[in-house]
Amino acid sequence: MAPFTLCAGIHRARTATLTMSLASLMSIGHEAAATTANVSYVPIPYPVVERMLEMAKLQPDDHLIDLGSGDGRIAIAAVKNWNAGSALGIDLDMERIAEARQNAERAGVADRVRFEQGDLLEADLSEASVLTVYQLNAKNIWLQPVILKSMNPGTRVLTHSFELGEWEPDQSDTVEGGTVHMWTVPATVGGKWQLTTADGTEALILIEQSYQRVVGSAEIEGEPMMLAEPRLNGNEIRFSIDAQQFVGRVEGDQIVPAEGANETAGWNAQRI
Ligand SMILES: C[S@@+](CC[C@H](N)C(=O)[O-])C[C@H]1O[C@@H](n2cnc3c(N)ncnc32)[C@H](O)[C@@H]1O
Repeated sequence: MAPFTLCAGIHRARTATLTMSLASLMSIGHEAAATTANVSYVPIPYPVVERMLEMAKLQPDDHLIDLGSGDGRIAIAAVKNWNAGSALGIDLDMERIAEARQNAERAGVADRVRFEQGDLLEADLSEASVLTVYQLNAKNIWLQPVILKSMNPGTRVLTHSFELGEWEPDQSDTVEGGTVHMWTVPATVGGKWQLTTADGTEALILIEQSYQRVVGSAEIEGEPMMLAEPRLNGNEIRFSIDAQQFVGRVEGDQIVPAEGANETAGWNAQRI
């Protein structure tokens, strides 16, 4: 799809809310929507950028990728104001890329932020620990399985206004009439597990998973039990069996006790 169609679609989809926020941007002298021969460009208001990056809880070892990076404001703010170690912005429009590179130079962060021309639908996302996107729902829905397949559990994904299909956000907030959504990429835990406790007790665990939502049951010596209050956040899973709490880290086909967790220790679970 041509970039013009995509951003024109964003104009239509955000209707009154976007019209209002663009109008207020123009009235206070910020950059307004700029249109080139090929691309209609809608910058995110700075307060929304700041809230997005605050929600991401960036750390120095984070690498952020911004898809459709425009003038570079998200990637630049991530390293300049919010502590990210490095960032990469990808945009189809070479004019935007040149502008973003200049802005990174001016902000003094060109050594930690790169901008590359490319199609976001072909981008390699595997190196990112944080992904930001401001695109149409249709693009986001296409991105959803790519994110779940290629990004590491624990990666935070943030969007402005648009969602990721049926995958419900973990957190949403309204800023300047727009909505910021955040998801954490979940580990794959659905299936059967053999859990062995420190004293050698064995439990058969069955987990059903839909994105980050999990439900499950356990069977110990033939007796069925509920997996109480199961929660999955990235690769951390927690649940209780018969009032005993387990906090674990999913490592492929194993679950091991999470570091620093002072709940039940000395157990492990193996996928079967
Ligand atoms: C709504 S603007 C958002 C700009 C910026 N992220 C911001 O929030 O200020 C969308 C941007 O995505 C870019 N874009 C559109 N389609 C794209 C594609 N398939 N691959 C990469 N960039 C694309 C456009 O050039 C434009 O800069």
